[in-house]
Amino acid sequence: MTKDIFQVYPLIDKKKKGQKLTHNEIKWFIQNYTDKKIEDYQMSAMLMAMFIKGMDPAETAALTDAMLESGKQLKFSGSNVIDKHSTGGIGDKASFILAPIASAAGVKVPMIAGRGLGHTGGTVDKIEAIKGFKTSLDLAEFEKRLNKDGLVLIGQTPEIAPADRLIYALRDVTATIDSIPLITASIMSKKLAEGANGIVFDIKTGTGAFMRTTKDARNLGKSLITTSKRFKKKAVALITDMNQPLGNSVGHSNELIESIETLKGRGPKDLTDLSLALAAHMIHLAGIEKTYDKAFKKAQLMVSSGKALDEFKKLIKAQGGNENVIEDYSILPMAKDVTLVTAPKNGFIKMFKNDQIGLLLIDLGGGRKTKSDMIDHGVGFEFKKKIGDKVKKGETIFEIHHHANQKEIAENIKSTFLKEVLTLSATKVKTPKLIIEKIS
Ligand code: URA
Repeated sequence: MTKDIFQVYPLIDKKKKGQKLTHNEIKWFIQNYTDKKIEDYQMSAMLMAMFIKGMDPAETAALTDAMLESGKQLKFSGSNVIDKHSTGGIGDKASFILAPIASAAGVKVPMIAGRGLGHTGGTVDKIEAIKGFKTSLDLAEFEKRLNKDGLVLIGQTPEIAPADRLIYALRDVTATIDSIPLITASIMSKKLAEGANGIVFDIKTGTGAFMRTTKDARNLGKSLITTSKRFKKKAVALITDMNQPLGNSVGHSNELIESIETLKGRGPKDLTDLSLALAAHMIHLAGIEKTYDKAFKKAQLMVSSGKALDEFKKLIKAQGGNENVIEDYSILPMAKDVTLVTAPKNGFIKMFKNDQIGLLLIDLGGGRKTKSDMIDHGVGFEFKKKIGDKVKKGETIFEIHHHANQKEIAENIKSTFLKEVLTLSATKVKTPKLIIEKIS
């Protein structure tokens, strides 16, 4: 515990006026918030001031260090301990595919993932659709599982970067997410604490991402890589498209099913391609293959041989879930009613306002409006068409999977989708490039 050398109000005021906070001031603020001596409303005000006034690289480094030091830090020897982190998007389920692929190839994957944040979905919320799957293991168990199985997937715990756990939940409901310093500190505090020796970043850009432009995504990528290097970690970042959902399913149970199908070699092309590319970078960073191309081939082999699917099954069993879900999807909670959204005219899909899709899922109960909201894992959306696809009037573009008592909500979602989310074009539209660039 740091001594009470500062006071909360003047520090918020200082940042509000756009002045720089010192290393000690940031450390004091974060530590006292983690120790519950600073209230949520004061932290919210500070986050908003940091968001609006920005933070320079020294402040970002101080925030990252303070959040990292708020909890325990694991250390694993061996250059093959590699994780991946996405900056968040819609339908982003790649972790469920790439982590088992990398693990099957010999990478040790100590994954600490996030819950839903703003309009984006969370890996931890999604895996919890499997009843019994424990996402909060204590650190001793986390370490044991990694050493034994080579793959472990949990959420933030009170031990690992507890400051991020608390701040993340506040940012989720206070519109303070899309800030490069705050995202850098959030991601890096978790990734550094979990003990990975290398990290592959998936930086999303587009209408469904926190970074709307490639330029912002590049700046976030540089910030993450600079921080990784400061801690002597190997790192690669891919900037990838988030102008439409990744894959076709958006929700929780349905995203898990799509992930399992992808591990069986039957997934949508965009999800398959990105998962293989990210897994290949993990395999390459781990030093298991000398070139990226060889690593990519290995990743493909892990899927075609069924080894990656076996790894995922083993992970579910090891963390208390029912591994029969691999064969029997009916184990997952699923909403039974479907409302179809069809094309109002002939044309080509030009654009989806992708962040709106995440917000519409929250309306259906598939996300949180307040910190304590429970997630409904059974509701979701299925995309039958993606950007560039030709559609005929009356053809289904989008399905809303909801409960019988949610007909009115589903009708509202349908009309918002047609009025605000979807843009059709009379002329041909190019499919967006999935992997835009690599930063290393
Ligand atoms: N993912 C995180 O872990 N933190 C953020 O702030 C954004 C995405």
